[in-house]
Amino acid sequence: MTPQEQINQLTDELNDLNFQYYQNSISKVTDIEFDKLLVQLRDLENQYPEFVREDSPTHRVGGTISKEFESVTHRFPMLSLGNTYSAKDLTDFDERVRKGLGEADYEYICELKFDGVALSMWYENGTLSRGVTRGDGVRGDDITANVKTIRTIPLNISAKNMPVRFEVRGEGFMPLITFEALNKEREDIGEQLLANPRNAASGTFKMQDSGVVAKRKMDCYMYQFLSNDDVFSTHEESLIRMKEMGFNVSQTWEKCKNMEEVLAFISQWDKKRHTLPLNTDGIVIKLNSFAQRNILGYTAKSPRWAISYKYQSESVSTLLESVSYQVGRTGNITPVANLKPVLLAGTTVKRASIHNANEIIRLDLYLGDYVFVEKGGEIIPKITRVDLDKRSNNLVKVQFPTTCPECGTELIRKDGEANHYCPNDKGCPPQIKGKIEHFIQRKALNIENLGTETIDMFYHKGLVKNPADLYDLKRENLLNLEGFKEKSIQNILSGVEKSKEIPFKQVLFGIGIRFVGATVAEKLAIYFNGIDNLAKATQEELLQVPEIGLRIAQSVVEYFQNTDNQEFIARLKAAGLQFTYNSVEIVVEGEGLAGKTFVISGTFQNFERDDLKIKIEANGGKVLSGVSGKLNYLIAGAEAGPSKLEKAQKLNVAVISEDDFIKML
Ligand code: IVH
Repeated sequence: MTPQEQINQLTDELNDLNFQYYQNSISKVTDIEFDKLLVQLRDLENQYPEFVREDSPTHRVGGTISKEFESVTHRFPMLSLGNTYSAKDLTDFDERVRKGLGEADYEYICELKFDGVALSMWYENGTLSRGVTRGDGVRGDDITANVKTIRTIPLNISAKNMPVRFEVRGEGFMPLITFEALNKEREDIGEQLLANPRNAASGTFKMQDSGVVAKRKMDCYMYQFLSNDDVFSTHEESLIRMKEMGFNVSQTWEKCKNMEEVLAFISQWDKKRHTLPLNTDGIVIKLNSFAQRNILGYTAKSPRWAISYKYQSESVSTLLESVSYQVGRTGNITPVANLKPVLLAGTTVKRASIHNANEIIRLDLYLGDYVFVEKGGEIIPKITRVDLDKRSNNLVKVQFPTTCPECGTELIRKDGEANHYCPNDKGCPPQIKGKIEHFIQRKALNIENLGTETIDMFYHKGLVKNPADLYDLKRENLLNLEGFKEKSIQNILSGVEKSKEIPFKQVLFGIGIRFVGATVAEKLAIYFNGIDNLAKATQEELLQVPEIGLRIAQSVVEYFQNTDNQEFIARLKAAGLQFTYNSVEIVVEGEGLAGKTFVISGTFQNFERDDLKIKIEANGGKVLSGVSGKLNYLIAGAEAGPSKLEKAQKLNVAVISEDDFIKML
């Protein structure tokens, strides 16, 4: 078989496996086997990029970095829908439809209104050629690389008798579980939380690195088929056929013969919609027959043949008893409203988040106010407004504290940031305990047998005031503690001991640098190879790392400048933790590159970046993180950093290609 035939065969096989998995829930191979085939295909594609197909499943894992999205004109404008909020509005709509159709028979299809981002997928000769955002309805952004990461969107359609060009439109969304996990991660590293899944989805689809989008596991429900040819005669037929073709059509739609059935659909989904994997904010009612849709036509903004009905978000008024201020691991202060318990959408609500000081001002809160609470996209309900009719005199305005409620230190608010924080990171109890909890978690040092209560006790007994103290714990320290038996002491000590084997990237995450989450830690670990290089890195050098922005770079520099942190790292080093990045054991191949230094930038055909690094080191060379006058070679691959290239040229550093490097070897 020629390489091209092999690529074709693997592409078809993997696309078929994906189709079977998402369409029919059939796993013909294990995940490991699937990944093996994918790696095989990726290797072939790297070797023969001229044969990579547009519908290659390797695109699903992302990797494309788009500097700017191309703006494209929609072949059919992307319109919006008129909104209604009452049964009366709906009957009026139905009346207009009836009159417009001259009293003929007609039917509706009712669907849920998914709360995400409208996307349009273009297919040419059965292959997904573009994924486009709505934009202003006339022009949108080409976000194809990001759309291809959505596994339920077919990259290829095998259905016969389809027009050469057609479009499928739908709502791209971030599933609720993904949203919650993402926000948990953000909270953990002191990042501002994402307001709701819709904002999270729209932010994600606009990301320039499709590799990050792929990790977010986005999804899309399809609700419209468009082409210049009349392929289907009813919407119902199009939904059924789209599903058969492998598109992800939510099976929540129903055909309704009259308004009574429409209203029944609405009330049936009012509660049930909360069990779906995404947020929905209403119902879309669409005329079923395409011929009848043509008779009714469009207004300037929206079709006359469809309308949306928005559910009232359930809102109740209750007493604001007090506001407490929680201090997080990074010192962030979050106000929380303590409410008189009230029933809302099936659960009793006692607390609501207020986010930050700006929100207190926006709501103009007084203690003793009656406030309206709603469940938005988030799990914790939020206060939407004060019930001013019920405000009594002599109430006291809610004032954001100027000092930390836990340790009394004066709070700080940085320019441009909405959050206040307590700077006393070495003496403020919840920050200290939070840092230890962060340090021992599974994704970090993974120290088992240490729960929140044990940490609390160790802290109060003065045994552990800093994660480094864990490594000084002795059996004798714990013997006298209440409830600690020989076995549990042994478990804790062996858990601490085992953590000395945890790889550097997890240690780096565990030490808790602000804004450095698990993914960023991994990137920094690979790029800088170890803590010493990272600690020396300047802001400019940090900014060279893919995906590292100014905020993270500043935070890292600030962290390593702090002498307490330096001492903390020194103690951990002395305890024997891993502070260098060991991807693979380096086997010495020769000394051909001895004394030579290299910087690697871009992507390569024959090597992953890490492999290239290993290759250099195995031959006696050294890999540096930034271009300087002392550097010998900059190995530039595809999409090499322009600032690095410019700097190398300015400093007369040799810029070599991957082939040059291979020859050198
Ligand atoms: S049909 C001509 N169906 O609502 C309009 N839209 O205001 C065709 N949406 O931009 C849209 N769920 O993003 C349709 N089942 C559904 C929908 C839906 C959500 C969104 C879509 C559109 C907006 C219209």
